[in-house]
Amino acid sequence: MSRLAIGLAGLGRMGRIHLGSLAGRCPSAELACVYDVDPVVAEQTAAEHGVPWTASFEELLDASDAVAIATSTASHAPLIVEAASAGKSMFCEKPVSADRAAAVAAVEAVEQAGVLLQVGFHRRYDPDWAAAARRIHDGELGEVTLFRTSLRDMTSPPPSFLSGSGGLFADVTVHDLDVARWLVGEVVEVHAHGAAADPAFGEIGDIDTAVVVLRFENGALGVIDNSRSAGYGYECSTEVLGTAATARIDSPHRHGYEWRTPGLASRDLVRDFEERYPVAYTAELEAFARCVLDDTEPLAAGRDAIAASDLAEAATRSWRTGAAVTLTPRRTAAGIDYSLHEVSA
Ligand SMILES: NC(=O)c1ccc[n+]([C@@H]2O[C@H](COP(=O)([O-])OP(=O)(O)OC[C@H]3O[C@@H](n4cnc5c(N)ncnc54)[C@H](O)[C@@H]3O)[C@@H](O)[C@H]2O)c1
Repeated sequence: MSRLAIGLAGLGRMGRIHLGSLAGRCPSAELACVYDVDPVVAEQTAAEHGVPWTASFEELLDASDAVAIATSTASHAPLIVEAASAGKSMFCEKPVSADRAAAVAAVEAVEQAGVLLQVGFHRRYDPDWAAAARRIHDGELGEVTLFRTSLRDMTSPPPSFLSGSGGLFADVTVHDLDVARWLVGEVVEVHAHGAAADPAFGEIGDIDTAVVVLRFENGALGVIDNSRSAGYGYECSTEVLGTAATARIDSPHRHGYEWRTPGLASRDLVRDFEERYPVAYTAELEAFARCVLDDTEPLAAGRDAIAASDLAEAATRSWRTGAAVTLTPRRTAAGIDYSLHEVSA
């Protein structure tokens, strides 16, 4: 098999991005079929792209070598379990589940079935982040002393999405927590602060602005800032300071040119994750197809999703209680385990 036939479940914002990748941009994959819980959406999308559609996930599994799951968060864990029991490998958007027990059960079902699960931590597959990570991991930065990352949306997602998102830390900060682990190492303390600048977030028990301070096992410090509505554009940037060098990954501009008027030079900024990360979103699905075809482990695996969600849960608890949460990352045969955490006084 030279190309993996991937069935796509979920045809909303992310599903349509993945559809674009699978329908022609991944050399090792092809789009087998599409499915959405809303059959009208599935039928219309299939007609637009000239691909088959199904009316159930079971039929999607039958029609595909592997599946990509971009459905709403609450459905990820049951669909992962269903795919695993059908013996199909899967790519799944983050997070695996807002419920830790369900996430662990889903990842265990994957491990027992001997199939692959890759999670949608797309920054790990972006050429800029991947190149910086290689040099950090090779030790070119020396000892890491400080990690800083900013993830800010230009405007909030729709209320229909927010109500099932799991909250800012689980939905947004989780990406930063994953890159913190990937670039720097395991985390032993999380202290989070949050605010609802838009009262609508407060009304649903959520926040739209946050700062999270991290202490890493290796002694480095970290700070994450997040906003649901920064206004000026979409920002996803980081710096990793070390004793020998500093790596800085900035949000690229929309165009290569600058517009100059008297006393003012301006450049367009990217507006959302779709504009910022088209290469990464395609690269993560190409990497998934290669992992399945070559029988290799994904860079962003199910246990990484659980670890990042555990850190997001620690941030949520810290924000609610006002106290720092200390963690004891344990290295087990299955992978890193953050399940033992306690709120410090
Ligand atoms: N990696 C990233 O950068 C990134 C960015 C945004 C969202 N996400 C994640 O992607 C997922 C989807 O987010 P979105 O913004 O595309 O949401 P969305 O609401 O725009 O789309 C979700 C789609 O899934 C369908 N759906 C829901 N439950 C289903 C089920 N059980 N079976 C089949 N279809 C179902 C809905 O009808 C809808 O078409 C979320 O889990 C979110 O956390 C990831």
